Amino acid sequence: MTQTEMLEFAKIAAKGAGAILMEHFGQISSYEHKSTPIDLLTIADTQSEAFILNAIKTTFPDHHIIAEESTIVENNSDYRWVIDPLDGTTNFVHNLPIFAVSIGLQYKGETIVGVVYNPAADKCFWAEKNGGAFLNGESIHNTSTNTLSNSLLVTGFPYTHDDRWSKGFDLFKTLYGKTQGVRRLGAAALDFCFVAMGRFEGFWEFGLQPWDVCAGALILEEAGGKVSDWDNSPMPFSGERVLATNGFIHEEMKDILENDLF
Ligand code: IPD
Ligand code: CA
Ligand code: CA
Repeated sequence: MTQTEMLEFAKIAAKGAGAILMEHFGQISSYEHKSTPIDLLTIADTQSEAFILNAIKTTFPDHHIIAEESTIVENNSDYRWVIDPLDGTTNFVHNLPIFAVSIGLQYKGETIVGVVYNPAADKCFWAEKNGGAFLNGESIHNTSTNTLSNSLLVTGFPYTHDDRWSKGFDLFKTLYGKTQGVRRLGAAALDFCFVAMGRFEGFWEFGLQPWDVCAGALILEEAGGKVSDWDNSPMPFSGERVLATNGFIHEEMKDILENDLF
């Protein structure tokens, strides 16, 4: 299968999973807790993931898979799927329509396909390596705003409330004071896409996971933006620290974040 065909496969899988999420949206009456009391798991996460895994295992039985709610499917393959079946579970539980399915595909460790689908708004973002970034078929690009003082940023916070969490609020205050504002939307995959389509100039976060960042990072890079670690080295696959911008304010944000490599 060509890269473009694999992108088409990922879009169909994301839309199918999104339809499952919409069957449950507004109807969640119970959920489980994961790493902490505020880290939630719903039937929608589980069913969305089962649908995507089944599609991948049927079509690409030898591919490696990392998905948030399952154990790793270890295969000796150069292809690795990286999946968040529901990014923004807390929003989902509270009937906020800001959530997405995120599907990334890597070849030899490099992301070659990314799809992020926000089913409540029927917005499908996608990109393939060197092919540009799209929203529902229209090419998207980040802004060219080149100062932090004219920028609107977005960020997020981890479920674990430790020392890093409180340092994160210090950074929030610092960046709030240097920009037109900072938003916290609650779905990291969409945060990348909203920088890619020009709603925000930059996004930073720490303590994310591979499935939060894999697809969105490619979409932003293909839209013309820049993604890195806080010190400008390559973004770790782990999602441990992320700086994602329109490129023009990258240096200014890096200068602030690199002093806090927690
Ligand atoms: C979460 C969201 C949120 C981010 C959290 C993630 P989940 O993912 O992306 O924006 O701040 O760190 O864990 O749990 O809703 O898939
Ligand atoms: Ca997530
Ligand atoms: Ca999730």
